[in-house]
Amino acid sequence: MQWHLAAAHPNFALVKYWGKQPGPHNVPAVESISATVDGLCTQVALRLRPEASEDQLWTDGVVASAAVAARLRRFVDLFRARSGSAAAVEVHSRSNFPAAAGLASSASAFAALTLACDQAFALGGSSQQLADWARQGSGSAARSIFGGLVHLHLQPQQSLPTRIEALPTRLPLACVIAITSLQPKAVGSTAGMERSRLSSPFYAAWLQSQGADVAAARAALAADDFAALAEVAEHSCLKMHAVMQSSRPPLCYPAPVTWAAMARVQALRKAGQPSFFTVDAGPQLKAFCLPAAVAAVRAALGELPGVAQVRQVGLGAAASVSRSAHNPLREAGR
Ligand code: DP6
Repeated sequence: MQWHLAAAHPNFALVKYWGKQPGPHNVPAVESISATVDGLCTQVALRLRPEASEDQLWTDGVVASAAVAARLRRFVDLFRARSGSAAAVEVHSRSNFPAAAGLASSASAFAALTLACDQAFALGGSSQQLADWARQGSGSAARSIFGGLVHLHLQPQQSLPTRIEALPTRLPLACVIAITSLQPKAVGSTAGMERSRLSSPFYAAWLQSQGADVAAARAALAADDFAALAEVAEHSCLKMHAVMQSSRPPLCYPAPVTWAAMARVQALRKAGQPSFFTVDAGPQLKAFCLPAAVAAVRAALGELPGVAQVRQVGLGAAASVSRSAHNPLREAGR
């Protein structure tokens, strides 16, 4: 029995992705820049079951819900089509952090599933191909195929593949995560993005101004300029939330404690601690910092009422895959 074991880390965007090009192929409407982080991880174990008529899909030790199973099955169908195989699959995925709570679990899950499918269906995809395939499951997953900082370029035509460029940095970035609530978000990113595209009066300005933010972030990284990176990353984050909040009905992902945490990080930066925040489609706050600021940021966020847990991560490695005769994830669930 051959199992394909893949692992991938989530990534947090410094210049945000929000919105898709109209059409069925999950093509982001904007380019973005992100940091893949260590510490948080999704593992996937997959085997082919050519004799079976249906896929068996498990997430975090339980049978996947109907909605999750449908999304996963559609994604595996793409690999069946690419390889010409009709084989059913058995998939177990397990994350060491909560899913669907704004911690980028879809990025790490689809990146890991991409590597497992690529190996199981013997496709031998290049890193760029793997990123393009991962993007079809979740836009941000393309970025988790790679480690460290990356630029996900805009696809000028939907028929062209996604392009990821690694952005080497000398900035020794750490990230402190303030976990507030572990409730799954009320509106997922996919539905939320479509709502913003159709109803936010700020959406056109969001698309139009993204190139300048990406250029500013790239220039800041190239110059090791933490302060300039902080300014554009917080701007991109708050602009994305303005688009979300101006959608109809509004999408309000930060909780009161998230806004309090943002104010804390800004106050720390003013007081000379190199740190900046970013917040995604959920109430968790991620504070990127230089090493000198980590202790102060951890302490300040940890004492905020409503912060349940503080975790510290660094820049993470690319997604990886191996083979095994056993499925360690199923055994862990027993
Ligand atoms: C707010 O990649 O989860 O985290 O492509 O619909 O799966 P889908 O969306 P997803 O969106 C991530 C949005 C974000 C910002 C970001 O990571 O850039």
